[in-house]
Amino acid sequence: MGSRLAVATRAALGSRTERNGHPSLRPVSEMSDAMRTTARKLVSPGRGILAADESTGTIQKRFDQIGVASTEENRRRYRQLLFTTPGVGEHISGVILYDETIRQSADDGRTFVQVLQEAGSIPGIKVDTGAKPLALFPGETVTEGLDGLRERLAEYADLGARFAKWRATIVIGDGIPTDFAIHANAHGMARYAALSQEADIVPIVEPEILMDGEHDIAACEDATGRTLAALYEQLAAHRVDLPGSLLKVNMVVPGKGAATQASDEEIARATIRCLTAHVPTEVPGVVFLSGGMSDEESTSRLNEMNRVGGAPWELSFSYGRALQQASLKAWVGKDANVEAAQRALAHRARMNGLARSGEYSAELESAA
Ligand code: 13P
Repeated sequence: MGSRLAVATRAALGSRTERNGHPSLRPVSEMSDAMRTTARKLVSPGRGILAADESTGTIQKRFDQIGVASTEENRRRYRQLLFTTPGVGEHISGVILYDETIRQSADDGRTFVQVLQEAGSIPGIKVDTGAKPLALFPGETVTEGLDGLRERLAEYADLGARFAKWRATIVIGDGIPTDFAIHANAHGMARYAALSQEADIVPIVEPEILMDGEHDIAACEDATGRTLAALYEQLAAHRVDLPGSLLKVNMVVPGKGAATQASDEEIARATIRCLTAHVPTEVPGVVFLSGGMSDEESTSRLNEMNRVGGAPWELSFSYGRALQQASLKAWVGKDANVEAAQRALAHRARMNGLARSGEYSAELESAA
């Protein structure tokens, strides 16, 4: 209801870009049709998203683990390896890029955007500028990146990005997350989502409740639920067209340091219960982040949710570490290992593709 009203209101008022003084003669209905189609393609059966949008600081940490210097050329060589993996588009519907990466090209002169488009994967872009300490709220963060975002989105659209990502982090601890931090992040994320849709770019909204801590699964369910409730309230208030958006979120899991861990089945049930309570059915898909879960946990938990079935949204993946870790380790910076590294990525993509329909099993890992 909320989103239908939003679309009707936008149709009546005309395109937002016109109102903001930018020349756009395209009707709003056409804009939202294209975004809705892109959003559905990103969660089409058997496929999911590769998050390859590590900021310069984060990729440095990943490269440190394999003893590779984080130079611009090494980052380009690594991303080239990922994006030129034979058949990558079969299970990878879209790839999230970083500002540096969306401007880079492969050895053969094609831009990475072209490489992905030709492989059948939709290029996307990370647009937030990171989670920063929230002033006067010790231990909590707020995600920045709204300044100049309208102009940056227009440039990314010109470069070929069809979807975007904005990540907020929520920490569980003594007395946190506060409602204030949840609200501040939800508000910023909704402003980003509205600006993205104005630029005809599908917003992925990503609130990540971090796994760090000793909290139990109930605490994660509570924090995830409060965060999603605030987020969807803000998205409605900002008139965001939900069918032209996607949710990226953590699974509901106990903290890494919790005394009691949970089974895949408990995690799947808690996650679906939490999403059902807070995510409108107009959202076409929920794509999970891996957030520190192992490669196989990320796959088997997604599989469990799809095996149980009955969710109104597509349940898919948008993994960074859980898709790339094996590939990075196989590569260790050497050209001679590129094929092995590509095989490792293709394998994880295929396993997660199977998890989209509950057809994954652990035996398939060793069969590879
Ligand atoms: P992980 O799957 O490594 O958590 O990364 C996903 C992501 O894009 C985090 O913003």
